[in-house]
Amino acid sequence: MTFEEEIRRRRTFAIISHPDAGKTTLTEKLLLYGGAIHVAGAVKSNKIRKTATSDWMEIEKQRGISVATSVMGFEYNDYKINILDTPGHQDFAEDTFRTLTAVDSVIIVIDAAKGVETQTRRLMQVCRMRKTPVMVFINKMDREGKDPFDLLDEIESELGISVTPLSWPINSGQRFKGVYNIFQHTLDLYTPDKTHVTESIRYDDVTDPAIDELVGSQDADKLRSDLELIEGVYPTFNAELQDAGLQDYLRGDLAPVFFGSALNTFGVKELLECFVKIAPSPRPVKAEEREVSPEEPAFTGFVFKIHANMDPNHRSCIAFVKICSGKFERNTYYRHIRLDQKMRFSAPTAFMAQRKETVDEAYAGDIVGLPDTGNFKIGDTLTSGELLHFKGLPSFSPEMFKYIENADPMKQKQLEKGVNQLMDEGVAQLFVNQVTGRKIIGTVGQLQFEVIQYRLEHEYQAKCKWEPLSMYKACWFESDDNEELELFKRRKAQYLAFDKEGRDVFLADSAYVLQMAQNDYKHIRFHFTSEF
Ligand code: G4P
Repeated sequence: MTFEEEIRRRRTFAIISHPDAGKTTLTEKLLLYGGAIHVAGAVKSNKIRKTATSDWMEIEKQRGISVATSVMGFEYNDYKINILDTPGHQDFAEDTFRTLTAVDSVIIVIDAAKGVETQTRRLMQVCRMRKTPVMVFINKMDREGKDPFDLLDEIESELGISVTPLSWPINSGQRFKGVYNIFQHTLDLYTPDKTHVTESIRYDDVTDPAIDELVGSQDADKLRSDLELIEGVYPTFNAELQDAGLQDYLRGDLAPVFFGSALNTFGVKELLECFVKIAPSPRPVKAEEREVSPEEPAFTGFVFKIHANMDPNHRSCIAFVKICSGKFERNTYYRHIRLDQKMRFSAPTAFMAQRKETVDEAYAGDIVGLPDTGNFKIGDTLTSGELLHFKGLPSFSPEMFKYIENADPMKQKQLEKGVNQLMDEGVAQLFVNQVTGRKIIGTVGQLQFEVIQYRLEHEYQAKCKWEPLSMYKACWFESDDNEELELFKRRKAQYLAFDKEGRDVFLADSAYVLQMAQNDYKHIRFHFTSEF
């Protein structure tokens, strides 16, 4: 296989959903198809998190599993598929957002009965910002759900993306009979089965009376009129390169939608087959200096996640690197741009079939794990030698804020070091008030505060305490009107902080305050992410 073919056959994506919509189940079924696992129930990480939410230290004992499930690689029909796990539930964290910066596309799972839920909305914002192509899987059709047309409307309006159904359900719940696969012109009859798949029957013509025999005339007629309506309302989609629908999908403007039941392994194969066909292979990545194309022979990559080892006796981490171009090779010297140091890695790991194994080489699109003892920060770039800085790892405004205070005056230095290192690892964000110098930690989930406190104590022998702080958002801001900008900064000095990079951030304590600021300072643009 040529170097270009190796890259073109890669599909690196994340499955995102609101908790309980069926992300774990779908992931597991995809792994079953890829032969990466052989029994259902093997992808435990989410289950562990779910059952042990209050006792996250227990969860950390499972780190072994958790590292391996951070990336799940497998082969399917000549494609190399990398699924990146996006932690949900209680440990929903900055990490989840950042993982989305390392994928080339996304599959969104939606519960047919619940429709679009909050976490999906939040994650979709990131996809929209980055123009990530998304496909939608509407799950749990074996249960009574919302009307499929209503679901499509809801996705369009709530997620801000156009849709086109590529499969269509015949009823739901008790009366669920299967789906008509618009993409492949097949009828897939539903028989509940958790491990096997129903074979599809091919119909290029939906008027075929055989369909009446299979699902009954009433449902067959309803199916035909639904399909007619779909044809009239939704954009057509085929996988031809010049197809407008496909192009819209690749631009992140149009989401193909499939219906099924992950638990019953129904509709999953169709989703997977369409996915490998249409989902993009590694896409060009923007660096400050230039755009880097995946087919360039020289290796480049960036760190998007750092996985800490919770065992205080082994203060080592794994830095997850997304390869943006070229080929990564073991024991080869690469340039760590921020430290301006040459480094080589004797034990890089890749993640195949649920196992973490040492790899000799990996290609653009792949993720490699580099054992690290503190050399990496989130966003670091590695190259074969060229001076490059990858962009696209923005900080997102946290949603919870607390003052962090030292609880042991003898350990001030340790606390500072610990906080700085944890922030470099991307555990949370640190803001320093520009007037008082007080330190504020911002997170997207309550659990992160507990994690920080525990890790400071166990890894740095430092004690912290939290002081409440009621705040709405941290906003980065800019303006072309310098005079107004200075005026704003003078007047709002007590609400300004520096972020980790020393950028100005406006700490708005309510939506109203932010709105007032927007009204009063017309030329200032406020942003909820650090990159705009
Ligand atoms: P998540 O990762 O998005 O949080 O969801 P997960 O896959 O864990 O699924 C959440 C629950 O929904 C699970 O039930 C799972 O079995 C169920 N589920 C997933 N897909 C389907 C489907 O197509 N139909 C139906 N009826 N249920 C589905 P649980 O009771 O929480 O867990 P378990 O005890 O069944 O493992």
